[in-house]
This record gives sequence, structure tokens and C-alpha cells, in this order.
Amino acid sequence: MFAVYAESFSTDDPLSGLAVGERPDPEVPDGWTTVTVKAAALNHHDLWSLRGVGLKEEALPMILGCDASGLDEDGNEVVVHAVVSDPSWRGDETFDPKRSLLSERYQGTFADKVAVPRVNVVPKPASMSFEEAACLPTAWLTAYRMLFGQGDLNAGDTVLVQGAGGGVATALIALARAGGLRVFATSRDEAKRNKALELGAHEVFESGARLPVKVDAVMETVGRATWSHSIRALRPGGRIVVSGTTSGPKLDDAELTRIFFLQLSVVGSTMGTRDELASLVTLLDASGTRPLIDQTLPMEKARDGFAAMASGDVFGKIVFTR
Ligand SMILES: NC(=O)c1ccc[n+]([C@@H]2O[C@H](COP(=O)([O-])OP(=O)(O)OC[C@H]3O[C@@H](n4cnc5c(N)ncnc54)[C@H](OP(=O)(O)O)[C@@H]3O)[C@@H](O)[C@H]2O)c1
Repeated sequence: MFAVYAESFSTDDPLSGLAVGERPDPEVPDGWTTVTVKAAALNHHDLWSLRGVGLKEEALPMILGCDASGLDEDGNEVVVHAVVSDPSWRGDETFDPKRSLLSERYQGTFADKVAVPRVNVVPKPASMSFEEAACLPTAWLTAYRMLFGQGDLNAGDTVLVQGAGGGVATALIALARAGGLRVFATSRDEAKRNKALELGAHEVFESGARLPVKVDAVMETVGRATWSHSIRALRPGGRIVVSGTTSGPKLDDAELTRIFFLQLSVVGSTMGTRDELASLVTLLDASGTRPLIDQTLPMEKARDGFAAMASGDVFGKIVFTR
């Protein structure tokens, strides 16, 4: 079958290990099923994979992609949950030490077909296109759990979203607005700041700028470049929810003094559960909120999408179609 896959790793030139071509059909273990892929969304995770982060050499070649929407074996329209937990695991699968994401241990979604545990298949509402639905399993699910799970935010709270242009960040802005929050967003780029306003941010700021008020929570996916600003933006007792470190995980200053003196909480967040994905799908179906798509490309042109993400010149999700 057709597939987009990693055949080698490179820290400095991740696209050098990207291949577009033929791979064997997926193996389907007991309790698993296959989904015919109609659309699949690109995540920063796929670039990390090409850099050798989270993916082992012996797993190569590996079909990339965590997110997909498509048709199940009975022709029903579905969304694929990307977190695969151990069959013996019970409860919140994001806490399973043996969990993996599609494209880490099991082949990913940038292909004609993907095999997944039956429980990982979630119905897609007719109101949502395959392209929109493909954006949900990683970036949008991560944003949903950051805000309403780990962030414990409620309508009326004020939240800061760092690095407005990213896939997770655009999801955070749109979902926070849909949830009745007051939304501040930062970006290094003026055009992206303007787009963040159109997307639902109440106020936008240059990266690192002083905010008019302290916020209840900061949603952090950028890491080193924005960490100090995130800590300084919080009110006493505020919370920073971190799910990514695009600019690097090694901090110049962890701001420990502020963390203890202002009694701040630093909370990690990773992906979400299958039930949270189903709730997110219902929320979007009911509210009309939809993922912002930067560009849609046929999967054969996946390399162009990877290059755009690597350059950082993106606002919203990049989606591949079959
Ligand atoms: N834990 C999880 O479950 C989970 C799930 C999804 C994603 N993630 C992680 O979250 C991060 C974002 O993912 P994504 O798919 O949204 O990536 P993305 O679309 O590539 O996000 C990139 C954004 O990060 C901001 N940025 C990058 N470098 C920056 C810098 N030096 N200074 C300030 N801002 C910078 C940019 O914002 P501006 O250009 O607007 O300034 C850019 O738009 C990644 O590290 C990813 O691995 C984690």
C-alpha cells in the first residue's frame, strides 16, 4: 500500500530520512481492526520521529502519522484514537507506562490503511469533514485535556496561550473561546497575532510582552523560549500546563523562586483518553467549533507539509488526504 514513512533519523536534517512509497499492508492482531484512511493530520511529533526522538532505530522503517479519520471495516465514518495502551491496562490510558502512540511501536496513519485496537475507533459525526476530524486525535485532544482536564479551567477564567501559530496552540485558542474563557495569546509574528484574534483570542501580544493582568493559567507548548514569561504571567496560585517544548526542554531559568513564593502549580499533560476524544468530538459537533486548517495536501505531497512545519511557517493544522 501507499505510505509515508521514516527510513532513517537526522537531528539536523529530519526530512532526509522521509520516504514516500510502498509499504506492506498492516498486520491486524486479535482485537484490532483496520481503518481505510481518508485524511491524516501532521503533528510536530512526526518531525520529532524523523529526528529519532521517541522512535527506536530497530523500529525503522516506520509509517509516520498519529492522526486519522476514515472508514471502518463496515464503511462507517470514524476518527482514530492515537494512544495505544497495553491490553491489560484499565483506567486512564495516558497513565499506562506501556502505552505508545501510533507510529512509535505500531505503524502510523500516513498510509492507505492503519490497524488499531477496536476500542480506538470513535464515530465521526456527519457534520464534520474527514479533514477536520483528522485534526482531533493529537493536537486538539491534547489542547482539550490541557484546558479542561489538567488545567481545570472554567468559564470566566483567563488563560494565556504561548506560540499562537502551532497546531496545539490554535486548538487551545479556539477551544478556550468555545469554553467561555478569556483568551490571551502570544506570537513572534504580527500576521499570526492577527490570525489568532480572528480565531477567538480576546487580546494578542508579542512573545515576552508584559500583559495587562496576571492570568489564571498558561498553556505552554513552546518550552525554553517562553518559559520565564509564562511563569511571570501567572497570578499567585496560578497554574502552568505544559505539553510540549518545541524550542527545547532545557531552561535558562526554571523560575523556582517565583514558583514557590507565588505558590504556582506546574502540571504536565499528555494527549488524552479515548473518552475525552469522544467528548471533544461531541463538543465540536454541538458548538460548531472547527479545527483551523493551514493547508490540505494530497498524501503524495507529504514532504511539502513536513517542510512547512519544519520552517515554522504554519498557522493551524496541515492535513494530508487520500
Ligand atoms: N504531550 C503531548 O501529548 C503533545 C501532543 C501534541 C503536541 N505536543 C508537543 O507540543 C508542541 C507543539 O506541537 P504542534 O504540533 O502544535 O507544533 P507546531 O505546530 O510546530 O508549533 C509550533 C509553534 O511553536 C511556536 N514556537 C516555536 N519556536 C518558538 C520560539 N523559539 N519562540 C517562540 N515560539 C516558538 C511558534 O509560535 P509562533 O510562531 O506563533 O510564535 C509555532 O507556531 C511540540 O513540541 C509537540 O511535540 C505534545
